[in-house]
Amino acid sequence: MKKPAILVARAIFPETLAYLSQHFVVESNQADEVLSPSELSMRLQGKVGALTTGSERIDGAVLKVNPQLKIVANMAVGFNNFDVPAMTASGVLASNTPDVLTETTADFGFALLMATARRVTESEHYLRAGHWQKWSYDMFAGAEVHGSTLGIIGMGRIGQGIARRGALGFGMKVIYHNRTQLSPQLEAECKATYVSKETLLKTADHVMLVVPYSAASHHTIGAAELALMKPTATLVNIARGGIVDDAALAKALAARQIAAAGLDVFEGEPTVHPDLLKVPNVVLTPHIASATTKTRLAMAQLAADNLVSYFTKGHALTPLNQVASAS
Ligand code: 8YV
Repeated sequence: MKKPAILVARAIFPETLAYLSQHFVVESNQADEVLSPSELSMRLQGKVGALTTGSERIDGAVLKVNPQLKIVANMAVGFNNFDVPAMTASGVLASNTPDVLTETTADFGFALLMATARRVTESEHYLRAGHWQKWSYDMFAGAEVHGSTLGIIGMGRIGQGIARRGALGFGMKVIYHNRTQLSPQLEAECKATYVSKETLLKTADHVMLVVPYSAASHHTIGAAELALMKPTATLVNIARGGIVDDAALAKALAARQIAAAGLDVFEGEPTVHPDLLKVPNVVLTPHIASATTKTRLAMAQLAADNLVSYFTKGHALTPLNQVASAS
């Protein structure tokens, strides 16, 4: 039987490509060019499947010129680059990569929280620049992490992983806000207490954002929310660009309205708001929360397995919608 044709839209691990090649005729973008929507539409011509990352948008325009497409497997748990209703309407299956990155991403949330609260990168820049001439009692004094109050906005799998780390590892008091309250059993496991968003912002020493991006979560944190936070508080965003109003955050950081922030994701990334680059009290990382080799391999493998499973068994392992099966 002829192998189905697929597109791998960005560079991935050679072993994942080799695995996919056993099942498909693969066109891959190992040059890792970021494809414009029209280039993506062109490369998809004749392909029944695709493996994408968060940087490729699959919407009505792409689907319209690629009616042969059957499945797009995102190598990410977040899928705000997919117009899922449009995909469902076109009979295109959408899948993501949940679970395999939960603990790794929660680790990174904590890394960013620690770096932000304890001013790790700011003090390193100072040292590297040759400014360290003597020790002083208040040099880079930061915010306490252990025993403080951690406020988590978005209590899905990753949020729960962060809650466990905070409560069990650092003796933090954990409060959270979410669209829906967790079951009493999960709340007890995470040692987390449900509060309103306003109470969370007013009382947390460290606010962690882990909420998926949607029109409803756009600018979850803007000027009004920053104004509610304590002047000693820190804010960490490992969720998505657009959850925070980056311009408002840069202003709040410059004015020391809050103490510091740690950001792994940005509005319009890879472009970073120029005012964020000017303030010292922000730790900036290039969307690497899931970036360990083991986890990125697991994400690539799950995305690949979604394609293989769909074409061999008629269903994906981690689908986001329901469409008529391929076989
Ligand atoms: C991805 C992520 O690496 O899974 C997600 O939602 O944000 C990251 O783990 C990134 O989206 C590239 O696909």
